[in-house]
Amino acid sequence: MEALQIIGNEHRSMWQLTVVLEELCKQLGKPEERPDDELFGMILDYIEQYVERVHEPKEEAFLYKAVLERSSEGKEMIAEFTREHASTPDAVARLRGQLDAVVRNYPEGVATFQQAVDEYISMMRRHIMKEESDLFPLARRILTDADWDEINTAFGDSNDPLFGESALVEFRALMSRIVNQAPEPIGFGLVTEVKPPAEEHPVLLSIHDLSSSYGRIQALRGVTIEVRQGQLVALVGANGAGKTTLLRAISGVQKVSGGAINFAGQDITYARPDQRVRLGICQVPEGRQVFGPLSVEDNLRLGAYTRSDKRSIEEDMEQMYAMFPILKQKFRQSAGTLSGGQQQMLAMARALMGRPKLLLLDEPSMGLAPLLIQEIFNAIISLREHGKTVFLVEQNAQAALSIADHAYVIETGETVLSGTGSELLVNEQVKSAYLGI
Ligand SMILES: Nc1ncnc2c1ncn2[C@@H]1O[C@H](COP(=O)(O)OP(=O)(O)O)[C@@H](O)[C@H]1O
Ligand SMILES: [Mg+2]
Repeated sequence: MEALQIIGNEHRSMWQLTVVLEELCKQLGKPEERPDDELFGMILDYIEQYVERVHEPKEEAFLYKAVLERSSEGKEMIAEFTREHASTPDAVARLRGQLDAVVRNYPEGVATFQQAVDEYISMMRRHIMKEESDLFPLARRILTDADWDEINTAFGDSNDPLFGESALVEFRALMSRIVNQAPEPIGFGLVTEVKPPAEEHPVLLSIHDLSSSYGRIQALRGVTIEVRQGQLVALVGANGAGKTTLLRAISGVQKVSGGAINFAGQDITYARPDQRVRLGICQVPEGRQVFGPLSVEDNLRLGAYTRSDKRSIEEDMEQMYAMFPILKQKFRQSAGTLSGGQQQMLAMARALMGRPKLLLLDEPSMGLAPLLIQEIFNAIISLREHGKTVFLVEQNAQAALSIADHAYVIETGETVLSGTGSELLVNEQVKSAYLGI
């Protein structure tokens, strides 16, 4: 394996650790809970031992050194990376001290600890992203084949006592203990590792090699996607990539010219739209179309129009209000008076009132201010926590990838990449094309 690939893998592990840390921190502060100091401790061990002892010195001794020798272009950035590396021991020691204090005086000290963890996480993530987006491309551009030979040999030396195979085995074991003890749902990066085996999440929607055209314009050319039950799957792509067309094809309002769509074990490639609704597919269209003159409550009731079980409709309304508290506050107001973000929530809640098996969301963040986007994505996370299966289509790759269990990238009608959300977030191709970094 090449050095950059090794570093990239290590980055992904570290990113996962930041996710676990974040999750653990969120659970702190409730008086009835105790901090999981064992798990916190293992993560700090990992950072101290692996990151500090293996990852950082190796980068500095080989990659940074070679880049600095070839050009002064990376000087400032490498100085910053080195400073950040040098700050790791202190940062980890501080976190350990604060963790001890939290454990002793719980719940006192929680806020200070949480803030310190937050700062550390942000630093680590920024560091990782910047290395991959700025340093890697620079290294690729300026290093010679001979440089790479030397670097790759050093990184690949499996007998090296410090960072050879035996050290790696030790750290892999530690990582897998962390992963297995991590709370569930763990959020972004660890999903594939901590979720129950795939057979417990049967495939709900499977799209194979789908194509579709508007007259002579071919909008979809070989889309292959799988959505498992209970998962949040994202499809990201630029404007005009074919995202809406795909959702329309899944809903049955867009003609398909090749390939197949399977839903809940049935071939629905040519099923009528109303049959698909009855099977449990519900699309929230682009541009959140709520009924403006009707109240929030009546909009929700409309979402249940196909249902006759009056009692459980009331229960579901309560569930929607629990999931989207703002809708409860405004249940008598006409939907047209809600803000864009609130209308988006109403559109999602209304769709859920039909008890769909699969919810299709078309660019819920479109046209919303950053804070509202955050709110909408929190709502989508809570959908997943309530066990809903969601297929989310977005131009906002950063936001979508950071909450998705699994994700696909679509380019001019073709699915070109897939992986877990966190894998794609640190994927260089994705970063340069969609994340603007
Ligand atoms: N009604 C239409 N008639 C003709 N071409 C269309 C129509 N709708 C979309 N297209 C074309 O299909 C392609 C995919 O569009 P769309 O699915 O809306 O992309 P996205 O939702 O990813 O922005 C684009 O090239 C677009 O111009
Ligand atoms: Mg669209």
